[in-house]
Amino acid sequence: MSKIISIHSFRGGTGKSNLTANLAVAVASYGKRVGIVDTDIQSPGIHVIFGLDEDSFIYSLNDYLWERCGIEKTAYEVTQNLKAADGESVSLSGTVYLVPSSIKAGEIAKILREGFDVGLLNDGFQNLIAQLDLDYLFIDTHPGLNEETLLSIAVSDAAVIILRPDRQDFLGTAVTLEVAQRLDVPNLMLVVNKVPQSFEPAAVIEQVESRYGVTVAGLFQENEEMLQLASSGIFWLHHPEHPFSQEVHKVAQHLVRC
Ligand SMILES: Nc1ncnc2c1ncn2[C@@H]1O[C@H](COP(=O)(O)OP(=O)(O)O)[C@@H](O)[C@H]1O
Ligand SMILES: [Mg+2]
Repeated sequence: MSKIISIHSFRGGTGKSNLTANLAVAVASYGKRVGIVDTDIQSPGIHVIFGLDEDSFIYSLNDYLWERCGIEKTAYEVTQNLKAADGESVSLSGTVYLVPSSIKAGEIAKILREGFDVGLLNDGFQNLIAQLDLDYLFIDTHPGLNEETLLSIAVSDAAVIILRPDRQDFLGTAVTLEVAQRLDVPNLMLVVNKVPQSFEPAAVIEQVESRYGVTVAGLFQENEEMLQLASSGIFWLHHPEHPFSQEVHKVAQHLVRC
């Protein structure tokens, strides 16, 4: 049985794309076939973390949504792009595919101007799972609540909502959680990212769990190494012993169990 896992946050810059990429590669390292779809059409970015640039892909999610091609044409295998800190390729027992969103200004503007058929997006998820024989499909969504985010929450087997310990995130997360609960997502969890080193992690988890009544599946501290990596690779492959990487695997294992 394949599973759809969507990763959300109410606001941008929470670390959604980096966490999606790290979790997806962690799950693939357990021998799984994993797909990732960048549905953040308005501000795409996860392709950068996998070393894909604008010239290295012909078709994007946009082409599929404009019915120019089938969804399978938009999926690129990125397993061979995965590198460790020394620049050496990493061999993974599973496989990772990425469906990027277009980074061309004209194409982003066209989607914003004309919109697209959200139903087509759902068909695309299902076809991608079937055609690539995926065990897991990760969806990196646009921050906030829009139509495609609501759709991806609704069709997910698990939804991960990322927040920072910040008042604006706290308020927005309450709204996102309420919507996800109404949509009856089976496995709803919170992840706290960018927690300042000076904060006591246990106290932050306690505060968040008691506020929302939802499990905190992982807590990630703000760290210098992540800032230095600057979205140029998969953090846990670069720093396998780092506490951030251990937490990535904790959340990834939680996801494959649920
Ligand atoms: N725990 C962390 N510590 C330090 N920097 C982080 C951490 N998590 C993410 N970042 C940085 O925050 C920025 C935004 O991350 P990104 O994954 O693009 O967020 P989003 O997709 O939510 O907009 C990136 O520069 C990333 O390197
Ligand atoms: Mg992003």
